[in-house]
Amino acid sequence: MSSTKITRPTSRITITSSRTTTPSSPRRRGSRKSSLRLDPRLRGDDIISRQGDRFRKNIIDCEIISNTAVTADYCLMQLQTEEFSAIPGQFVMVQIMSETTDPLLRIPLGIHAINNNGISLLYRVVGQGTKLLSKKQTGETINILGPLGNGFNITKHKNNILVAGGCGIAPLYALAQKLQEHHVELFIGAATKDQIYINEFKALDIPVHIATEDGSAGFHGLITDLAKQHLDDNVMVYASGPNPMLQALANITNSLNIPAQLSLEAYMSCGIGMCRGCAITTKSGYKMCCQDGPEFNANIFRHPCESEDPEKYM
Ligand SMILES: Cc1cc2nc3c(=O)[nH]c(=O)nc-3n(C[C@H](O)[C@H](O)[C@H](O)COP(=O)(O)OP(=O)(O)OC[C@H]3O[C@@H](n4cnc5c(N)ncnc54)[C@H](O)[C@@H]3O)c2cc1C
Ligand code: FES
Repeated sequence: MSSTKITRPTSRITITSSRTTTPSSPRRRGSRKSSLRLDPRLRGDDIISRQGDRFRKNIIDCEIISNTAVTADYCLMQLQTEEFSAIPGQFVMVQIMSETTDPLLRIPLGIHAINNNGISLLYRVVGQGTKLLSKKQTGETINILGPLGNGFNITKHKNNILVAGGCGIAPLYALAQKLQEHHVELFIGAATKDQIYINEFKALDIPVHIATEDGSAGFHGLITDLAKQHLDDNVMVYASGPNPMLQALANITNSLNIPAQLSLEAYMSCGIGMCRGCAITTKSGYKMCCQDGPEFNANIFRHPCESEDPEKYM
């Protein structure tokens, strides 16, 4: 989601997606079997259509109400949808219509805000799909598949700490809205101040702590180092951002025995548990990021002593 520059983590756990490592097929290891035989000629949407009614109702045409650049490379898109209810942390797969095969598949984007008229998406322009998305005009229609995933498990903790890395802020705004009756603080970090977007948070009137790696705003350093100074026994941590940031944060919260929920990123082709392409490694085996997450408790990730190569996590 964000390309916030992260120094190499000194992590003691590992959060890996199927592209960063290449786990052998989860299916071969005896986990849940798919009822669908995948024909390699199928496009993503063919797979979805074969899922029948289960996901058909989640395929929605939305009118674009606005689509504007809010920073040098982040855009905010407001979509009008009818009766769309979602849990903070859920995501949608956005279909980018293109005259070529690039992008071939839908792209996953977290739901930034949920309101009476629909939803908004906050996305960083990083490649062909998001570039084409940023060119969409008000009044055009786009097709989304969602809401998908499970969302954050909103607990009754009185103190809640949200930790965002760059565009990882996207799903945390909807969460902050939900948590308003409790104490909430936002910690957001990025490589530089141009990658910090917190406009909607200003109306929520919650404390916001900023860290930048180049020192251009707030604390000079990593957001995990700043957040660490504010953690105590009675907090719930919710985090979203690049996986190395989440990995570093999980090491901190796990060592302090503080509960944390991490919104993970993995490359997703289908978003609905069919392609098995978004497998992540946990203490109890593979999980599908789209179907079992994308939010996971931090304490399910491996400790280095279980790792075949502890050196690579130093
Ligand atoms: C559940 C989920 C929610 C997400 N929510 C958001 C969001 O709210 N806002 C947002 O800006 N981005 C989000 N992302 C990341 C977003 O999906 C990718 O940035 C997007 O698919 C890139 O598409 P592209 O065609 O523009 O770029 P591509 O040409 O596909 O890739 C450009 C660069 O982005 C990297 N990239 C592509 N897809 C991913 C991915 N899934 N995870 C990590 N890196 C990726 C590639 O390695 C490459 O370096 C989310 C990802 C997931 C899995
Ligand atoms: S993206 Fe296809 S199984 Fe998760």
